[in-house]
Amino acid sequence: VTDLGFHGDAELAPGLADLAVNVREGAPPAWLRDVLRESLAGVAAYPDVRGAQAAVAARHGRPAAEALLTAGAAEAFTLVARGVPGERAAVVHPQFTEPEAALAAAGRPVRRVVLGEPFTLDGHLDSDLVTDDADLVVVGNPTNPTSVLHPAAALRALARPGRVLVVDEAFMDAVPGEPESLAGARDVPGLLVVRSLTKTWGLAGLRVGYLLGDPALLARLRAVQPPWAVSTPAAAAAIACSAPAAVAEAAAWARAVAGERDALLAAIAAHAPGVAAVPAPRAPFVLLRLPPGVDGATARAALREAGWAVRRGDTFPGLGPAWLRVAVRSPDTSAAFARDLGSVLSLKEYAS
Ligand SMILES: Cc1ncc(COP(=O)(O)O)c(C=O)c1O
Repeated sequence: VTDLGFHGDAELAPGLADLAVNVREGAPPAWLRDVLRESLAGVAAYPDVRGAQAAVAARHGRPAAEALLTAGAAEAFTLVARGVPGERAAVVHPQFTEPEAALAAAGRPVRRVVLGEPFTLDGHLDSDLVTDDADLVVVGNPTNPTSVLHPAAALRALARPGRVLVVDEAFMDAVPGEPESLAGARDVPGLLVVRSLTKTWGLAGLRVGYLLGDPALLARLRAVQPPWAVSTPAAAAAIACSAPAAVAEAAAWARAVAGERDALLAAIAAHAPGVAAVPAPRAPFVLLRLPPGVDGATARAALREAGWAVRRGDTFPGLGPAWLRVAVRSPDTSAAFARDLGSVLSLKEYAS
């Protein structure tokens, strides 16, 4: 049984290098910590998130009424599951498991649409995969754990009158220039875009994200959101991270990550040549497949022995134990990891 509630943080333990959680190292930056510290002066009052909603909307060229602040992207999935009416939800896998978990928790049946390798929506075949009667479709872009960036046109092709299309863009700010983003698309019927500020900005413990879309749809979600779900410091962070200088900082980091990801893939090719990576990764992590005959659980245990926590792949629908997700870190860290991965795979228990 797939454990939809398993997340990368469960892989961590003292002394292990973290390649399992995709929160940016070194974040939040000092200027953002200052913003959070200053916001504490206002925490005696109940939060007023209107300014933050206007700020995140403006960052994507939308009026304030087209944004809803949430306690992380995770809360957005719960609001969708409770607030969007319908009976035939389809979830495109492999992807982050919380959207399906939230639908299940709300008692809603889910049809899994499982993409095969290379895990990319290509536009014309997809309408066969997602049947016309689906009234809610959830897809990630770029996708966790595959790191695939779907073409915006393929996502647009999934929209229909009478259907809500949820695109989880939690990692889009880690893609240089945000190509294929629908965050600013106001012409797609039933579109809801989910964004997160927790990964790039190191705010996983603060819980801050938002939804973008049609005001009438957002009103349904607001109606099922607990009062004051987003705190005053989280709202302050949303304003600060939407400023042009912050958006430019995230873009610069995204460009740096692209180089570091190339270094990670080159190191794996050099030191662990039997390991295959899903092609064209665009997120700050890569999805690896161990060579045939290698037991994933044994390999993960050996990597832990060597000091590395990686994210198991087998809890994602559509993947199995041979898959591992690995965060992009500095080239030195990646080289050390790739060398240990190569050593682990050359251990005699894998020799056939
Ligand atoms: C693809 C994806 N969407 C959403 C989330 C949830 O993000 P947040 O921390 O904003 O709730 C995650 C967290 O791992 C994720 O990987």
